[in-house]
Amino acid sequence: MTRRSIALGSGAYLPERIVSNEELAARVDTTDAWIQARTGIKQRHVASPNERTSDLAIKAAEAALADAGVAAADVDLIVLATATPDQTFPSTATRVQAAIGMTGGAAFDVQAVCSGFIYALATADNFIKAGQAKTALVIGAETFSRILDWEDRGTCVLFGDGAGALVLQARDGGDADSAGILSTHLHSDGRYGDMLYVDGGPSSTQTVGYLRMQGREVFKHAVVNLSNVVLEALEANGLEADAIDWLVPHQANRRIIDGAAKKLKMDPRRVVVTVDQHANTSAASVPLALNVAVKDGRIKRGDLLLLEAMGGGFTWGASLLRW
Ligand code: ACO
Repeated sequence: MTRRSIALGSGAYLPERIVSNEELAARVDTTDAWIQARTGIKQRHVASPNERTSDLAIKAAEAALADAGVAAADVDLIVLATATPDQTFPSTATRVQAAIGMTGGAAFDVQAVCSGFIYALATADNFIKAGQAKTALVIGAETFSRILDWEDRGTCVLFGDGAGALVLQARDGGDADSAGILSTHLHSDGRYGDMLYVDGGPSSTQTVGYLRMQGREVFKHAVVNLSNVVLEALEANGLEADAIDWLVPHQANRRIIDGAAKKLKMDPRRVVVTVDQHANTSAASVPLALNVAVKDGRIKRGDLLLLEAMGGGFTWGASLLRW
């Protein structure tokens, strides 16, 4: 009998403080018009000094559990994707575990930067399919504001803080038309590690460091890799692009989203775009976008969703999920 992971509910959290493009233009040599034209971003949320990644993750997790109608005590796995953990260790996932009152099971972080949520989803899905977990919290949470060089106009305008979460549960049986994750597809190519990285870390500088990026190169790779992995996901399931009800892409840049959607010949009205509201929140961006479209009623039970993301490493991935 086949076992699959059903998405029972979603939740998200964005810090209260909103930083507009105009506010950034007062700090660095940029304009609202440049940022909107090149990225589609209008604003980003920034965590308060005493808010940590786990605080954002806890709020998203609690919202997802409430939405799913699942008690924390019934969760036996937390997989949390972040590149901005509270501390080097313990994992942010175990901080969340303690806060929500879950004392059993296992909790750990995965690190795939902007692809982190897809990696976490694939990990939890494989644990569920292998019978090693029954109910999983999959979280993407970041405070990228802490690793930005606020003097570098080429990067500081692009990112924001936030968290999103999904509750998965094992269900036996079902076919391609039943709810659940149909497949996940992960890739990485470490040869491109120096195109997008943080120039610090416990083992190299004993500092946290700042995000550094070759924006134009990242852009080119993102469009190609995302298009390829999306086609791979469709082919693996014998589906054409017109079978997808909603493309839920990583929210990095409007032009990357449009480029990938165009290659798929997706109707733009079927693409969930939230990057204008919260900029690139790395591992949090896919679950944030998903949650918006679920809560505003666009995504309905039975809809086929294609999630995709690409990030530092490079890492990239996709998942087909029937909601
Ligand atoms: N305001 C005004 N001018 C700027 C700014 C800014 N904020 N940032 C850069 N510029 C200038 C540059 O200095 C350059 O000036 P120059 O021609 O005098 O040297 C000019 O704009 C063009 O710079 P480019 O980097 O070539 O601009 P591009 O059109 O490539 O846009 C951008 C830059 C938005 C970063 C784009 O390359 C991009 O989106 N790349 C993908 C980056 C990304 O999304 N990374 C996130 C992580 S990976 C992922 O999530 C997929």
